[in-house]
Amino acid sequence: MKLIIAKDYRDMSRKAANIISAQMILKPESVLGLATGSTPLGIYDQLAEWYRKGDLDFGQITTVNLDEYVGLGPDDEQSYHYFMKKNLFSRVNLREGYSFLPDGRNPEGELECRRYTELIRSLGGIDLQLLGLGHNGHIGFNEPSDAFVRDVHMVDLTERTIEANKRFFTSSEEVPRRAYTMGVGTILLAKKILLAVSGSQKAEALYQVMHGPICPQVPGSVLQLHPDVLVVADEEAAARLPKEDR
Ligand code: GLP
Repeated sequence: MKLIIAKDYRDMSRKAANIISAQMILKPESVLGLATGSTPLGIYDQLAEWYRKGDLDFGQITTVNLDEYVGLGPDDEQSYHYFMKKNLFSRVNLREGYSFLPDGRNPEGELECRRYTELIRSLGGIDLQLLGLGHNGHIGFNEPSDAFVRDVHMVDLTERTIEANKRFFTSSEEVPRRAYTMGVGTILLAKKILLAVSGSQKAEALYQVMHGPICPQVPGSVLQLHPDVLVVADEEAAARLPKEDR
């Protein structure tokens, strides 16, 4: 894993956006794996700004998102469909029909998981996958558990994740209890991975991801097995990492 340390959230966002834009310039028809949460917001702002200035072209890009809440449709303001539309898709020139997320409204869980796994495969895989990191070390919605799950699957969210994500809802009761997510196998198949981490409350999780044992209790630790992972962390998030990492 290669570590890039940024001064603060803004610097982290710019550095990560630079890496994504380099990917888009090198391969204009890239399949980008995208993430939600508050971490990528600054990255999406930066990408949208570069598009607005004419420096970046999404005209041949395809996007696939990591996850979606079960039960929420694209018009639900708390859905990840809505989040992506608001924070990125509506601000750049992505083609209609080339941005994909799991369908939270599909009640046929197994079918939906198979459909999304197949869809990613049919796109030829992901060129660059952007990831955030949960406080408990989760990636996508792969929550700490006793085993890794390879493909797209449905998960029960942990209390800690429900608590962390309730800020996007009016109360924690409203946070859906389940989600569809790419599995760790789906994520590891991406050609390159970009992990963006910000803030002191992520420092312990980042340390475990980079230096702890590879175990399903810290799902992000599986990234140690990938040959091409770039971690962009701000000073606060990198605070627990040993000197030799810097
Ligand atoms: C959610 C998302 C993850 C994201 C995590 C961290 O659980 N499913 O993909 O990485 O939140 O979010 P934040 O960046 O807001 O800390």
